[in-house]
Amino acid sequence: MRILVIGGAGYVGSHTVRLLARSGHDVWVYDNLSRGHPQSVKEAELICGELSDREHLKRVFQQHEIEAVMHFAAFALVGESVAQPAMYYQNNVTATLELLEAMRESGVWRIVFSSTTATYGQPDKIPIAETTPQLPINPYGFTKLVIEHALTDYARAYGFGVASLRYFNAAGASPDGDIGEDHDPETHLIPIVLQTALGQRARIGIFGDDYPTPDGTCIRDYVHVDDLADAHLRALSHLRPGTNLQLNLGTGRGHSVLEVIQACRRVTGHPIPTQVEARRPGDPAELVADSSLARRVLHWQPRYMDIEEIVATAWNWHRRHPRGYSAE
Ligand code: UFG
Repeated sequence: MRILVIGGAGYVGSHTVRLLARSGHDVWVYDNLSRGHPQSVKEAELICGELSDREHLKRVFQQHEIEAVMHFAAFALVGESVAQPAMYYQNNVTATLELLEAMRESGVWRIVFSSTTATYGQPDKIPIAETTPQLPINPYGFTKLVIEHALTDYARAYGFGVASLRYFNAAGASPDGDIGEDHDPETHLIPIVLQTALGQRARIGIFGDDYPTPDGTCIRDYVHVDDLADAHLRALSHLRPGTNLQLNLGTGRGHSVLEVIQACRRVTGHPIPTQVEARRPGDPAELVADSSLARRVLHWQPRYMDIEEIVATAWNWHRRHPRGYSAE
């Protein structure tokens, strides 16, 4: 299929582009490089453009006879979304609506959309199924939920084929260490712990050890980025006119912050000093996926079920690229 991957120079996008290309699809990446890295796009043509530029998108659709869109381009930091909601609503909602109109006006009807566990807020029942009420607690979660609803409406009214994939905590890197996670500033747990192992940080701050969890630290469901990529391919082949899927993507296994740090110590052999700090506002105590629907509908099965294996792939990337893509 001929696929335009919007935000394909980002973390999850770049891993998906690679898998799509290696599975025989024709792939183009559309990215404004505000947060993505051109060096991560190795197996597709990179088109620089803005998500909000409907006319440019329409030209790209026509020129390359695009049949499907994967949409990864979003701001995705909870804290930043609280501080700068306008930026989040502009990019994640307003600009995405331009993309949907460009698709509608061009007759492109397949879309796989990156949604998030943040649409659930702080659910009181774990694991989280797709039937769990979606009650976001921050602007980021709201922006993703708005687009999920827009996609449902576009599927009903215009026959779009839609899959909204609700990722839990994306983690890891391609096992060959060629592409991986590189955010600036970095806020995610595993990269920060591994930067500590590399000596780039003195210690890792643990954001709260008084949560109602067995060891007092927050529990998350870490899912390997290549498993997310695999789910995108499967979702794509599932789309028919009017298909409207919302699916959780996680392993179903939760790990506390302390357990992740322990796994990183085992993988790196580094003592990784820690320091308990205040809770980070907006962090739910526990988020673990019930992904049985994705397993049933897509026949998706995460290959990386072991946190140490996930960390090992991330470590391989960080060790080989201690400064991320900037040194390439
Ligand atoms: N954490 C620390 N110290 C750090 C960084 C993180 O203790 O230096 C803790 C956090 O408090 C949290 C856990 O590690 O408990 C994981 O934090 P991340 O920042 O790695 O990931 P989040 O769970 O906050 O974020 C993920 C996605 C977001 C999504 C969010 C929804 O990255 O895009 O889940 O809750 F919005």
